[in-house]
Amino acid sequence: MQKLIKEVILEAGEIALQFQSRLKTIHITEKGAKDLVTEADISVENFLRKRLIAATPDFGFLGEESAETMGSKSRWIVDPIDGTHSFIHGQYFWSISIALEEAGEIRQGAVYAPLLKDLYQAEKGNGATRNGEKIQTSNTTTLAKAMVGTGFACLRANLAENNLARFSRIAMKTMDQRRFGSAALDCCFVGDGQLDAFWEQQLNIYDVAAGALIAAEAGATVTDFSGRPGLYPEAVLITNGRILSEILELM
Ligand code: IPD
Ligand code: CA
Ligand code: CA
Repeated sequence: MQKLIKEVILEAGEIALQFQSRLKTIHITEKGAKDLVTEADISVENFLRKRLIAATPDFGFLGEESAETMGSKSRWIVDPIDGTHSFIHGQYFWSISIALEEAGEIRQGAVYAPLLKDLYQAEKGNGATRNGEKIQTSNTTTLAKAMVGTGFACLRANLAENNLARFSRIAMKTMDQRRFGSAALDCCFVGDGQLDAFWEQQLNIYDVAAGALIAAEAGATVTDFSGRPGLYPEAVLITNGRILSEILELM
């Protein structure tokens, strides 16, 4: 399964890169407030659906850009381009995300950032890798020394609770903070120690299914904003474990 996912995600990366190389001519539409979709998102999702379902015809498929197809107990959960806004601006921090859920549990995850040339992969119980090398969360023990990441989604553009107050609160107490623009990658960055923690609200399962498994397999805690263990897309907090209690007080 890992071999199949790797092959397909690398190929999807090539397709996305071809679109990014001719950004001025690609077709972009607005799905909702501050929510853009491009030809690239659609083409990559169609490719992933075709290839993954050809290999596993009885599996379901949930992707961001098309209607869900029901299948057996297993389903693919896919974000064809996580970080469309970064992609459109010719930036580096966007990724392709593929997760495989079996009997309600995410068992495989892969996140590939073509411009960074980084492929993260994990299988439940077997650890996580970046470009084939094992990864581990950071050793940072205090928030005062921590580098944290977050996101501000289009879905929250009009919400009163928009993460800005929480961001300000936490930023006052940390060493530094980042907003990379791809929730899937943010999770992986906690996994390999580039970030000590990441949080975001109102995400969708396809944003974080693969990334959260990769982070967890690298030693990260995955909880909601009150510390309840598990993946809750509406409130995702991923940490290196060591700064969990400190950051929870500020969530
Ligand atoms: C978005 C990215 C971004 C996050 C948004 C997501 P998309 O995904 O993950 O980092 O802040 O919440 O919607 O729309 O580019 O696939
Ligand atoms: Ca996404
Ligand atoms: Ca997307």
